[in-house]
Amino acid sequence: MNGRIAVYPGSFDPFHRGHLDLVERCRPIFDGVVVAVLENEEKLPLFTVAQRMEMIRELVGGDGFCRVESFSGLLVEFMDRLGAKTIVRGLRAVSDFEYEFQMALMNRHLNPRVETVFLMPKEEYSYLSSRLVKEVYRLGGKLEGLVPPTVLARMARRLGEPRGGSD
Ligand code: PNS
Repeated sequence: MNGRIAVYPGSFDPFHRGHLDLVERCRPIFDGVVVAVLENEEKLPLFTVAQRMEMIRELVGGDGFCRVESFSGLLVEFMDRLGAKTIVRGLRAVSDFEYEFQMALMNRHLNPRVETVFLMPKEEYSYLSSRLVKEVYRLGGKLEGLVPPTVLARMARRLGEPRGGSD
């Protein structure tokens, strides 16, 4: 992967259509994107890092534009190892702003050559989050159209079939 490489970091537990939409939005802007899954021992994730990397690869890993990796420690150090200078993050609503603003400025403090670029996902995904995906799944709500079928199948294997359903 050469040229203008973006790093799209996150927990992706699980990866949903809002994430997928963001990767697609990177195509006309960058030469490649590395989806970087955080290895975070503090959080109790639904999927292991390896499972998350696998589910992301199934969806975006096919054509050489997108690579999936994991990282621990500082994001800017991971980016140094890759030779990447641009972080991509999704901005869904004003409520995301404060957290994203803090992270962007902290990353700039840690490495002034690293720039954060925010992309807005498609409106229909602007309320979507991994946390809500897990909650709605557990309570049997409808997630079709918001979560790729391959991810829903993995959730079913991990959590069992969802409750009753809301149809
Ligand atoms: O999907 P998330 O959980 O909002 O992603 C958060 C993530 C992975 C982007 C952030 O926690 C991160 O970059 N962690 C790595 C540690 C780090 O570099 N911290 C200092 C800069 S904020």
